[in-house]
Amino acid sequence: MTGSESNVASTGRRPLVELRDVDKHFGALHVLRSVDLTVGEGEVVVVIGPSGSGKSTLCRTINRLETIDSGRITLDGRELPAEGKELAKLRADVGMVFQSFNLFAHKTVRDNVTLGPVKARGKSAAEARKKADELLERVGVANQADKYPAQLSGGQQQRVAIARALAMEPKVMLFDEPTSALDPEMINEVLDVMISLAKSGMTMIVVTHEMGFARRAADRVVFMADGQILEDAEPEQFFTAPRHERSKDFLSKILTH
Ligand SMILES: Nc1ncnc2c1ncn2[C@@H]1O[C@H](COP(=O)(O)OP(=O)(O)OP(=O)(O)O)[C@@H](O)[C@H]1O
Ligand SMILES: [Mg+2]
Repeated sequence: MTGSESNVASTGRRPLVELRDVDKHFGALHVLRSVDLTVGEGEVVVVIGPSGSGKSTLCRTINRLETIDSGRITLDGRELPAEGKELAKLRADVGMVFQSFNLFAHKTVRDNVTLGPVKARGKSAAEARKKADELLERVGVANQADKYPAQLSGGQQQRVAIARALAMEPKVMLFDEPTSALDPEMINEVLDVMISLAKSGMTMIVVTHEMGFARRAADRVVFMADGQILEDAEPEQFFTAPRHERSKDFLSKILTH
């Protein structure tokens, strides 16, 4: 049994995302090496590690923006579909929030949030709008609904991006450095939304160097280096007694900033 399996077993959660012995190359570069990771339902897993260690690639394989060379990835017990309608459904089940907000520039904030549910989930326009307005309220930008993305601050745009992902009613949310493009004063408003999402029971995989978020909201911290998961531990244990030299070295660098 691997460390991550035992972790999930000990918390008694139903496995929602499972990666087993996943390998991935970009040409000669081995970017994911025998990656095993289990994320239980409702669990919040923070992924950290040096630049180029494979964190974004890991996230991208989970909604099949990247294919894998070998191994197995399942979502809610089912292997990721390769193409077609099933793949579109998978993408809807896996919400993704990137560093660059990726909103549709020519659509209003509200339309950004209603588009997916109408097109991919078959919701009526009225239903989608009601849900969008609820979600925009929840992330604190209800008063911006009729504006265009460029008229919003970065923090507001990122909160809209979170609302847009949530509108699809995903089973899991992936965040890839959601605050690293933001001015410092906007970071907390986004982290607060993520913390409340975590508290609401959403299953989340979050690549971030915001260690305050990891301490407050994470159930586990996963440390990656050179495409491998070197450590998978509870935040308290990871921050106070990291087991691996690479984790110690990494922590000493980011915590002394
Ligand atoms: N599409 C691609 N083609 C070729 N190489 C790639 C591609 N995407 C990523 N890589 C390489 O794979 C490795 C892992 O990249 P990845 O973006 O997953 O790292 P990361 O941990 O997210 O880094 P960062 O902290 O800088 O975001 C890096 O060496 C990167 O240059
Ligand atoms: Mg990255």
